[in-house]
Amino acid sequence: MTYPGGKEAEGTAQTIINQQPPHDTYIEPFAGHAAIARLKRPATNTILIDRDPTVTNYLASHVPGQWHLLIEDALEWLPRQRFSARTLIYCDPPYLMRSRATQKPRYAFEMTDEDHERLLAILTSLPCMVQISAYADPLYSSHLRNWRHITFQSATRHGLATEHLWMSYPEPKALHTYQHLGANYRERERIKRKVTRWTTRLATLPALERLALFSAIEESINAPAPEAAMLASDRPHRQNRRNPEHTLQKPNGEA
Ligand SMILES: C[S@@+](CC[C@H](N)C(=O)[O-])C[C@H]1O[C@@H](n2cnc3c(N)ncnc32)[C@H](O)[C@@H]1O
Repeated sequence: MTYPGGKEAEGTAQTIINQQPPHDTYIEPFAGHAAIARLKRPATNTILIDRDPTVTNYLASHVPGQWHLLIEDALEWLPRQRFSARTLIYCDPPYLMRSRATQKPRYAFEMTDEDHERLLAILTSLPCMVQISAYADPLYSSHLRNWRHITFQSATRHGLATEHLWMSYPEPKALHTYQHLGANYRERERIKRKVTRWTTRLATLPALERLALFSAIEESINAPAPEAAMLASDRPHRQNRRNPEHTLQKPNGEA
């Protein structure tokens, strides 16, 4: 069953998940049927909130038993919490009425323009990582002007729509999960095939050889980027500012 405004469409869910940095606690304060929570790799703690009890009843039989389900008004609940920097909140509130193609109510609990304004004020004061989806509207672009912002096309009952996703944090250097990596279906399938090919080959190797490869891959990932390494070797006589006696070494060992 597709929930109104649900984010399970191919391309939509993957785009949102591919913007999620590693986190310990994951919260959806406007859960609906919580497509993103159900498609992503679970966090240590997952909290799903919806004001509508019929929604949380549905979730109770469709999500793992250890997830926390709350029937709450997110606008009341969010300001009462203390969040750590390792918490990620994904907000998918009802779209602003004026930004909808039909301008008609869809949920038992809708939000007024003032509610949206209040939500944006709450979210921009939180110390944790926040993502929020919406359609284009000056209220969102002005409150979230300092946040990172991407757009993508998503399939709706009324055809394709441009979805906006704002994030309070810089572009992630690592992701919470790589299972949906890829900008489109073809690329995601190509990456999945490559992962299967490589892991199947790895499985045929003796255990220590597997670990040797794993350790070399880990080292190469943690090594400085090639440009940074070249800059350092271009300036062999630059002194280490913290310890002027140490001069940067050329790769061949000369000072
Ligand atoms: C766009 S839907 C979420 C869809 C969801 N992302 C999915 O994939 O199914 C928005 C949800 O917000 C809920 N809602 C509306 N006002 C709320 C409020 N003040 N606090 C918590 N939930 C609210 C509605 O009941 C609705 O289920």
